[in-house]
Amino acid sequence: MTAQLEYPDPQESEALLSVQGLWKVFGPKAARVPRRPELAELNRATLYDRTGCTAAVRDLSFDVAPGEVFVVMGLSGSGKSTLVRCLTRLVEPTAGRLIFEGEDLRAADEKRLRTLRRSKFSMVFQHFGLLPHRKVIDNVSYGLEVRGESKPDRKRRAQEVIDLVGLSGNENMYPEQLSGGMQQRVGLARALANDPDVLLFDEPFSALDPLIRREMQTEVVRLHREVGKTMVFITHDLSEALKLGDRILLMRDGAAVQLGTGDELVGAPADDYVREFVRDIPRADVLTLRWIVRPPRDGEQLDGPELGPDVLVREATRLVLESDRPVKVVAEGQLLGVIGDEEILAVVADAAPSGATTLYGASGASGSATLASGSSGSGPAVPGAPGSAASSPRS
Ligand SMILES: Nc1ncnc2c1ncn2[C@@H]1O[C@H](COP(=O)(O)OP(=O)(O)O)[C@@H](O)[C@H]1O
Ligand SMILES: [Mg+2]
Repeated sequence: MTAQLEYPDPQESEALLSVQGLWKVFGPKAARVPRRPELAELNRATLYDRTGCTAAVRDLSFDVAPGEVFVVMGLSGSGKSTLVRCLTRLVEPTAGRLIFEGEDLRAADEKRLRTLRRSKFSMVFQHFGLLPHRKVIDNVSYGLEVRGESKPDRKRRAQEVIDLVGLSGNENMYPEQLSGGMQQRVGLARALANDPDVLLFDEPFSALDPLIRREMQTEVVRLHREVGKTMVFITHDLSEALKLGDRILLMRDGAAVQLGTGDELVGAPADDYVREFVRDIPRADVLTLRWIVRPPRDGEQLDGPELGPDVLVREATRLVLESDRPVKVVAEGQLLGVIGDEEILAVVADAAPSGATTLYGASGASGSATLASGSSGSGPAVPGAPGSAASSPRS
C-alpha cells in the first residue's frame, strides 16, 4: 500500500505521539498480512484459519496530544496490551509508523530505544512488577540506578515521588508487607521517578478491589493535575475510561471502533457495538448540555436562566426542572439553544435509549412520548456542537 506517502510531516504535527497505520500480526509470514488487501480485510477468525496469523493490532491511527490522558479501551483479547507494547517497541510492529516528538521510533536502533525507554517512557503494569527483595525506596529508585545516577540524587528523587503518591513512612517496607493498592502506589512512584514524558498504564488497577480501584483512579486524576504528564491508559472498564480519559479509543479485534471523548461515545456511538458498550452508563453523568440543546420554538420566552454548554446534564437537572422558562444555553455570549424539562427528562429517565445516534437524535429518538415536536428541522446547526469538536482533546 502507498498510504505512507500521505502522512503529514511529523515535524509539523502538534502530537506528542503519532501512530499511523500500525499493525501487529503474530504468526507465520506475518508481514504479508498488512501488505495484501485480500488478507488484511479478513476478520480475525478467518485470517487465523487461512494463514495461522492473528492480527492483534490492525491499522490503527491516532495522535496523542501533549498532556492528554489517552485511554485505550476494549474487551480482553482486543489488542490493548499489544498496542501499548508496540508504542515503545517492546513488541515489534509489523507495519505502520510511530512518531514520537518528531522522531521516527521505528528507525531507532537498540541503543536509542533503551535510552528512550529509560528517559521518555514509563510503564505501570497490572501485576505491579516490583522486585520482592528490595525495599520500597529501592524499588522506586531502581530506574535511576540503572541510569547511573548518584546515590544521594536517587534517594532525594525517590523520596520526592514516594511523598507525591502518598507512601511517606513506608520507604523501608518490602512489597509483600503492603496491600495491593499500596504496591501499585509503589509502581506509580517508580514510573514517575525518572520523570518520563509519557506514562503508559496497562490495566494497572484490574487486580485491585473495587473500592481501592476507585481510590487509585482518583489518585491518577490528582497526579495528572499535579505533574501534567501525558498518559496512555489501557483499561477494559468503561467507567474507569470515562473517569480518566480526555479521549477514548475503543478497540475490537485489534481495530479501532470509535475514537472520541467520553460524551461522544455515549452521546453518538459509532455503531451497535459501541452502543452496547455504553448502554449501562448513567447518561446524565456523562452527557453535557450541548448534547440535548434544541433551537427555541416560535413564541418561546427567552428570558430564562443561562448555563454553559459544558455543564453536565446531572448538574443542570434541578435548575431546568425548577425554572418555568426554558434554560438558555449560552457560549461566549452566543445563544446555542434552549433546554426544557423534556430534554432533561429524556436523558435522566431513559438510561439506555435504543436508537440514539446523533446530537439531536439523542433526545428525539429516545422514545419519550413527550417529545412530540420530534427532531426534524433541528439538525446540528448549533455552533460548537460535539460533531465539530470531535477531534480536539478536552483539556
Ligand atoms: N506473543 C503472541 N503470540 C501470538 N498471539 C498473541 C501474542 N500476544 C498476544 N496475542 C494475541 O493477540 C490478541 C490480542 O492480545 P492482547 O494484546 O493481549 O489483548 P488485550 O490486552 O486487549 O487483552 C489475542 O488474540 C492474543 O491471543
Ligand atoms: Mg492486556
